[in-house]
Amino acid sequence: MSFDVVVIGAGAAGLMCAAEAAKRGRRVLLLEHNDRIGRKILISGGGRCNFTNLDVTPKNFVSANPHFCKSALSRYDSSRFVALVEGHGIAYHEKKLGQLFCDKSARDIVQMLEKECADNGVEIRLRCRVKGVDRSGTEKFLVDTDTGPIEASSVVVATGGLSIPQIGATDVGYRIARHFGLKVTKLVPALDGFTISEDHEFFSSLAGISLDCEVSTQSGASFRENILFTHAGLSGPAALQGSLHWNQGEKLILNLLPDCSALEWLTGEKQAASRKQVRNLLGERLPARFAELFVLRYHPELGETCQAPDRALRDLASRLSRWEISPSGTVGYNKAEVTRGGVDTDELSSKTLEARKVPGLYFIGEVVDVSGWLGGYNFQWAWASGWAAAQAL
Ligand code: FDA
Repeated sequence: MSFDVVVIGAGAAGLMCAAEAAKRGRRVLLLEHNDRIGRKILISGGGRCNFTNLDVTPKNFVSANPHFCKSALSRYDSSRFVALVEGHGIAYHEKKLGQLFCDKSARDIVQMLEKECADNGVEIRLRCRVKGVDRSGTEKFLVDTDTGPIEASSVVVATGGLSIPQIGATDVGYRIARHFGLKVTKLVPALDGFTISEDHEFFSSLAGISLDCEVSTQSGASFRENILFTHAGLSGPAALQGSLHWNQGEKLILNLLPDCSALEWLTGEKQAASRKQVRNLLGERLPARFAELFVLRYHPELGETCQAPDRALRDLASRLSRWEISPSGTVGYNKAEVTRGGVDTDELSSKTLEARKVPGLYFIGEVVDVSGWLGGYNFQWAWASGWAAAQAL
């Protein structure tokens, strides 16, 4: 069995790449060890797939080389994917912040990609697990699978990251890279939120509370959206975004009142005469239960605002605008939307995604050290890098 191109992994990047390479006349085989294609697409965006974002810039990605993603993202931008979606008659809408979702179901996106593959003659082989890739002794590659070896002139590794092993994630892409002497950067689960073990009783008492806040990391990244306290720690979009930029041992800084100066508000003239309980005052701008537990935790002595010592109010204000939390970790690969890190971008051409040292071997999508923010950016990277590689195959 010999093909021009073997693409490993029928996820977002692999499906796009296979269809586009086949459009260019290549004989393409797409291998997938699951019994169906695009499983991660199916569960994405709560089943509606946030397939791209209207405003994609290199700033929305984390990578050891922040410039690496520029070429692919500019050659296949979000408007091209939107045109494909519209061409297939798929209804979609913007939910918020430029995030585009299917009106009906993520299945629409999988069916669209499947049709693109079928119309262009891609052969898809399911239940076929790739164990490794080697040179076949000639110019060609030998793809080692549990259903026998397959020869190919080019191999595209589109095996994704390590998150959600329950639906098929494996480390085979990283192993293939290392086998060919390519470096892989440190891998960590990301877009998964935080676990908090300090002050456990207090944090678990907050479980279920959600509030709008600004989450900043020590590296200077900052996100304004909701957070949600959970029994394990912190979730919600702003916490998930924070987890993409956070490193073990660092603090998280939460501004719980991002629309006002907590100091001016709490120590202003109006409050000096107020007979409101401090916790009720805080409850005007924060969820009542949170306000109550927060005051109880840090200043249980405070009663009426007008009686509160200035020092205590200042301390409370500073905690509200700069609440420092020390997470014990992030939630992990069972919940993570992505793996941060991957095949070192120094090893790859940013234009074609081909390994510099191994002509004919390509890495696309999440297996590469390019991770996007929450909001459709990871799929846009998958489409764009898959498309870029296909133009070179
Ligand atoms: P992907 O993981 O999609 O595909 C890799 C494929 O390779 C899989 O089908 C896998 O089974 C296969 N494979 C692995 N090992 C193999 C082997 N040994 N042999 C054969 N096949 C093998 N992003 C976004 O932009 N918008 C969103 O709404 C969401 N939502 C979301 C929700 C959840 C719950 C998760 C976990 C993730 C998201 N994401 C997301 C992230 C997004 O799903 C992810 O970044 C892309 O799917 C990555 O595409 P890839 O094609 O690189 O990998």
